Formats: sequence, structure tokens, C-alpha cells
Amino acid sequence: MSAAIIDGKALAAAVKAEAAAEVEALRAKGVAPCLAVLLVGDDPASAVYVRGKAADCAQCGIESRVIRLDAATTQEELLARLEALAADESVHGILVQLPLPAHIDEAAVIAAIPPEKDVDGFTPVNAGNLLTGGDCFAPCTPAGCIRMIQSTGIDIAGKRAVVVGRSNIVGKPAALLLLARNATVTVCHSRTKDLAAICREADILVAAVGRAGFITGDMVKPGAVVIDVGINRGADGKLHGDVDFAAAAEKAAFITPVPGGVGLMTRAMLMKNTVKAAQRHCD
Ligand code: GUN
Repeated sequence: MSAAIIDGKALAAAVKAEAAAEVEALRAKGVAPCLAVLLVGDDPASAVYVRGKAADCAQCGIESRVIRLDAATTQEELLARLEALAADESVHGILVQLPLPAHIDEAAVIAAIPPEKDVDGFTPVNAGNLLTGGDCFAPCTPAGCIRMIQSTGIDIAGKRAVVVGRSNIVGKPAALLLLARNATVTVCHSRTKDLAAICREADILVAAVGRAGFITGDMVKPGAVVIDVGINRGADGKLHGDVDFAAAAEKAAFITPVPGGVGLMTRAMLMKNTVKAAQRHCD
């Protein structure tokens, strides 16, 4: 293996230490940052993620309020909960854990989060501001990817970046964040022709497809920075990334592991966004 491993655990710890220091400064000004998390239903993976987010909050001195709602909760009930949290001055950030049960219109729920409390960066206002270069909450996973790329010391400007995956949560915002840093960006997806050839041109390769081992060693340019967003639970019960790690590490200069990579950074960036939401109260 030749690639250096980008240590998500160490980087996330550094980002959370930053957030904790900012929380202390806010508390000195009389603002106690608070994140409300709405969890609907009993998806086991979501429950694990939400527990992780609450633990991170505790570690950073952020108050967390986890509101667990029954899987049969109606859209109206959920929207009413959101309205109350929107009006609650003591709540700075609101996060609705996805996926929601099938009977709930996800887009309608996300649109009901006030943009200034939208620490996930999922609302149309934040997505639009990300597109046009305005101040916004950037979604946590792609923001974490950028921190990981920056940690390598490589200059993003002028590099060829390939993002595999076009979700609203990861692929599209990752492409916009890279573009804002002057990378030349290509977004690939399930209909892309010659995917391997395009990936091989990438100085920065971001894999966000949700299929274990989808990016094989032959798709990696020698010396590339490979960021693996995938978290796939294998038949072996273990977590696997979207990248064939062993093969890609033979080619890449830097690579993120799974677990211990992007997932931890997503949680850390959520802390930063929550602090940012609370800082508005001092403006
Ligand atoms: N489900 C999977 N990832 C996320 C995330 O980053 N935010 C929310 N709200 N739900 C998710």
C-alpha cells in the first residue's frame, strides 16, 4: 500500500475541539447552543446515527434534545412539532433524521425547517445559497469531505475532481463545494458512460454511490486523493465503503478509510453548523 490514510478520527476530534472552544465563547456571552433532533420511526441505523449525534453534542458542550416519534406519526403532527421548534428561541439547530417513513413527504418536511436553523443544509434556501455562493449551511457530509481533502495539503484549485453520485445530500453539494474552490468538476451517476475512464482522470475522487466496493483499483489515478463516502453493511456484518480500499490504496496518494473516515467528519461538521446557528444570536 502506498497511500497515506486520512485519519477521520483525528480530524473529527480536531473539528469538535474547535466547536467546543466556540461553544465556550458562546456560553460566556449567555448563549447555550442547542440542537433538536427529530427521529421518526424505528429504523435501527437512524437510531445509531442519532445516538452518535447526541454524544457529539455532549462532548462539545452543546445541548441536544432528541424527539423520538412513533412510525405512525402523521405528516401534520411532524410539521406541528417543527413549527414549535422553529418558534423556540432556545433551539438553534433543527435536524430531521432521514429517511422518514414512506407516508411522509420528505421535501415538505425539509422545507418546513427555518433556513437559519437548518444545520443539515437540506432546505431549498440553503441549497440555493450554496449554488449561488451565498452564506449558507453546507451539508455536513460534503463539508467534511472538503476538510479531509484540505488536510492533505493539496491545493484544490485547478484539480480535476470527479464525484460519483448525484444525491442532494452528498453528490450535488460536494460538486458545488469543489467548484467553489476552483476544481474542475465532473459528476457521474448510474447512467454515466465510460465511468472508469472518467474516474481515472480524477486528481480528487469522491465516491458516494452506496454500493460496496463499486470503485475498483483500476478506476483510481496514480497519486489521487480518494474520499469514500460509502457506509455499506456487508453480509459479514461489517461496514464497507464504496471503494475497494486495498486496491485503491495501491494507487492513491491519500485515501479515507471506512469506518473511521467520512462518517466521523459528518458528525463533527454538524457540531460546527450548530455552533454557527447559535452564533447568529450574538450578531
Ligand atoms: N440520514 C443519513 N444521513 C443523514 C444526514 O446527514 N442528515 C439527516 N438528517 N439524515 C441523514
